[in-house]
Amino acid sequence: MLSSVGRNIIWTAKQQFRSLHKTSAVCSDHMFVHRDTPINNPDVKFEFTPENRKRADAIIANYPDGHKQAAVIPLLDLAQRQHGWTPLVVMHAVADMLKMPRMRVYEVATFYTMFNREPVGKYFVQICTTTPCMLGGVGSDVILQAIKDNLGVKVGETTKDGMFTLAEVECLGACVNAPMIQINDNYYEDLTVEDTNRILNDIKSGKMPKPGPQSGQDWRFASEPKTGLTSLTDPPKGPGFGVRSDL
Ligand code: FES
Repeated sequence: MLSSVGRNIIWTAKQQFRSLHKTSAVCSDHMFVHRDTPINNPDVKFEFTPENRKRADAIIANYPDGHKQAAVIPLLDLAQRQHGWTPLVVMHAVADMLKMPRMRVYEVATFYTMFNREPVGKYFVQICTTTPCMLGGVGSDVILQAIKDNLGVKVGETTKDGMFTLAEVECLGACVNAPMIQINDNYYEDLTVEDTNRILNDIKSGKMPKPGPQSGQDWRFASEPKTGLTSLTDPPKGPGFGVRSDL
């Protein structure tokens, strides 16, 4: 057994090889440090439209007194839908409306990838490359390459015509039908390279492809096998099923 002096010598030797200063890992294709630009500075004008102002009031009314600030995410979403992206002034408008410190809104808007801190194209293509999508079907790496080839852009870039922006994101909650992409508000699942090219080409030609599983099995919304259900095929039983009648 080592004496405490011996343990200290080994610990000190290990310390010499320990990396004390590291650059943080890159976890996103965006930099979230704000720098004033002509289109993103505190003097740009932003106001909710009267219609959205009413919507915002209705959203805020859903939350009890003392907890109104919980409306920050739906309000940022509403503001982004109006403005197209989320510059500084959009965050300030939401902070003012909810009477919360601007820093608190910055923290939320920079944490969630759904808030775009830079302008995006008309069609915002988000590809999930988290583990289930990486491993499911042909795999998200193959789909990502197909999108890059089709659009001629890298992750984080927008096509020259302003039509498409490509982003790589974490799980979008459709892992059961992996691999998948989100284009604006629509999910496209069970993707192959052919599906991906068809979807992008349809959008380019002005058509809106049908969202959902692209495997031809529209009912496959919750990880059902492609050959059809093999269990739990009866309609769910109602409340009280199996309970003694005298209870
Ligand atoms: S891992 Fe891709 S949607 Fe969940």
